Amino acid sequence: MSQHGRKYRSAAWFGPVDKDGFVHRSWMRNQGLPSHLFDGRPAIGICNTWSELTPCNAHFRRIADHVKRGVYEAGGFPLEFPVMSLGETLLRPTAMLFRNLASMDVEESIRANPIDGVVLLVGCDKTTPSLLMGAASCDVPAIAVSGGPMLNGKFRGEDIGSGTAVWRFSEAVRAGEMSLADFMEAEAGQSRSAGHCMTMGTASTMASMVEALGMGLPSNAAIPAADSRRYVLAHMAGRRIVEMVREDLRMSRILTRAAFENAVRVNGAIGGSTNAVIHLLALAGRVGVEFSLDDWDRLGRDVPTIVDLMPSGRFLMEDFYYAGGLPAVIRALGEHGLIDKAALTVNGKTIWDNNAEAPTYDAEVIRPFDAPLTASGGVAVLRGNLAPDGAILKPSAATPALMRHRGRAVVFESIEDYKARIDDAALEIDETSVMVLKNCGPRGYPGMAEVGNMGLPAKLLRRGVKDMVRVSDARMSGTAYGTVALHVAPEAAAGGPLALVKDGDGIELDVPARRLHLEVAADELARRRAAWTPPPPAMAGGYQRLYVDHVQQADKGADLDFLVGCRGAAVPRESH
Ligand code: FES
Repeated sequence: MSQHGRKYRSAAWFGPVDKDGFVHRSWMRNQGLPSHLFDGRPAIGICNTWSELTPCNAHFRRIADHVKRGVYEAGGFPLEFPVMSLGETLLRPTAMLFRNLASMDVEESIRANPIDGVVLLVGCDKTTPSLLMGAASCDVPAIAVSGGPMLNGKFRGEDIGSGTAVWRFSEAVRAGEMSLADFMEAEAGQSRSAGHCMTMGTASTMASMVEALGMGLPSNAAIPAADSRRYVLAHMAGRRIVEMVREDLRMSRILTRAAFENAVRVNGAIGGSTNAVIHLLALAGRVGVEFSLDDWDRLGRDVPTIVDLMPSGRFLMEDFYYAGGLPAVIRALGEHGLIDKAALTVNGKTIWDNNAEAPTYDAEVIRPFDAPLTASGGVAVLRGNLAPDGAILKPSAATPALMRHRGRAVVFESIEDYKARIDDAALEIDETSVMVLKNCGPRGYPGMAEVGNMGLPAKLLRRGVKDMVRVSDARMSGTAYGTVALHVAPEAAAGGPLALVKDGDGIELDVPARRLHLEVAADELARRRAAWTPPPPAMAGGYQRLYVDHVQQADKGADLDFLVGCRGAAVPRESH
């Protein structure tokens, strides 16, 4: 029995006064742990994605130390453990291939160990969904702490945003408008402090989703990594998780349908990354909440984007924090009836209790509802014979003149094919063409790489063309922009209609009508299908084989089919 009268799951390891209890305690004590830590108090896992290969999370050992202070202060027993860390910039062929693998690591590590509650240290893009998904499949009390964005990038007096600046500068180099020397100089200025991408890319979006879902403390999304208040937040999360264990406040009570609806609306208001779509679909699948691609369109459609951040707007996460951060956005949404105010959050209060009084300090960065950055934010879900199970497009990152467009397809069978031919002077392409990229989906790449915003042909860039319609089964970096239809499902490698598109085919994009149509007759498509053969797998064995055999399509969140659902945390069998 614990000091507080309830017996937690860790007591099954540390409680027994027998051979097994001896084994569980004795080896732990080689770390210098005193015996009172084994008296039945809440054992708190600190799930750490620290890695020097994940630069966005490289400061996480310090964050973990501050979480530990809070855990000790509240009478808990902190136990830090590592899990697979997913660094977006280095991992090949794409970090997304490993999101589900890391989630398995998290799930099994929590379940197999004496952990009563867990603090999830998340930052770089895929570390957030993988840790949430893994913990959700155990349904233990959990609180996520994001590592925080980098300070604003700086280059020759200009604020530059991670990712967004890279796409812009590399196009400028290809168009002959920027020297290679300047391009190289911008590298250091872009990433000048600890933290993750400071645009409203996928990391900042997912940190915002953590807060909107109620899985993090207020202000989790925006406090810069270099700001001491990030460490105060970590400390407070450590204190709070101990109370959550005592209250048995598990993830399933927070990740309700209302939480997901709130998250979709917040995503629209912040102009968030398209990657949030796929991650939240997968997370909902873990907790058994009915939540579909169509919910994204329906719930987000009338939400204006009021946060003026790159890649859609002008500012960066540091500015967003000083302007009021996500609490100010949630308050504005709530005042317009776009928040389910009763949704519970990790601090035991409702989302409205937390945010009803949140001030806005800068109306340029967090704009008023009647002067938004984009009137209709959110994510458009497109359907048609080219995407029977859906595709998505981010209107706030697209060119208004291209939202209704008909053009001839220029087809690339793979990303290598695209790279080999895009700057070929003989390539028949103009600004009215629709660039089509195949075999970059979950199975095809494998892992659904962020290559959907493929750069435009140099010869068109030099003529001043800034955007073209692009269609693919790939994803796009949250820091990118353009009129890009992504996540086409089913993907080409799974035999989706995308596989059948040929050069010169007519394609119609109609975002207001939510339509993506291939202007080829059904009998011709049937003939092409009969002649189609799937591409060979990139790798014959190992995890890639498991992934390709079991990954679901983008409209289902690209989780592995056997990972869907919550399996709880019970393990009745002893280890010896
Ligand atoms: Fe890690 Fe962008 S590369 S957050």
